Amino acid sequence: MHTIAPVELEKAYRLINHGPTILVSARDNGTEDVMAAAWACGLDFAPAKLTVVIDKIAKTRELVEGSGMFVIQIPTVAQIQMTHAVGTRSLFTDPDKLANCGVELFSFAGFDLPFVSGCSAWLACRLIAEPHNQQVYDLFIGEVVGAWADTRVFSDGHWHFEQAPPSLRSLHYVAGGQFYATGEALNVPSET
Ligand SMILES: Cc1cc2nc3c(=O)[nH]c(=O)nc-3n(C[C@H](O)[C@H](O)[C@H](O)COP(=O)(O)O)c2cc1C
Repeated sequence: MHTIAPVELEKAYRLINHGPTILVSARDNGTEDVMAAAWACGLDFAPAKLTVVIDKIAKTRELVEGSGMFVIQIPTVAQIQMTHAVGTRSLFTDPDKLANCGVELFSFAGFDLPFVSGCSAWLACRLIAEPHNQQVYDLFIGEVVGAWADTRVFSDGHWHFEQAPPSLRSLHYVAGGQFYATGEALNVPSET
């Protein structure tokens, strides 16, 4: 069953509006890496932009800076162990990190980027280079140039976690090995 559909770039911010733990991936000169990140945030609607904090200890950061491109993707409850593993192992010290963490990569046509299989959403980003922010605050800005989501949990511009298997819920990081799965949906009726 094919469950991945493109998301309008103007609605791409909604993929991270609920504050999930995400995976950053990048490829440069044939090297691919994936890391976990809790500090990712929407920045603008059109063109869609986001921020992510990528520490200098991360090999993924080198690949982002070298290629000027990266992917932000949203791992699921089913991927909690892989998410924790890519956040605690480094390609600097483990050349087989991706295999050891159980990461599988795939492509979307027209994007020379490593996308992580099994996630619920993917945002292909072009780095908007801001060397001062990157150096001083480890803060990276991306313009979203492509977005896709799993239609079982995101359709018509909205998440529908409550109607999907719990294993597809997003992860929300606290510290150590502690995460929460995203919770119940609450809606405020619009005033008339
Ligand atoms: C759940 C989780 C969230 C994390 N969030 C961030 C983050 O927001 N920014 C960051 O620089 N590192 C974060 N890390 C740490 C990196 O994922 C970690 O340094 C990783 O090993 C880097 O891998 P690499 O060197 O192969 O790129 C997080 C780790 C975990 C487990």
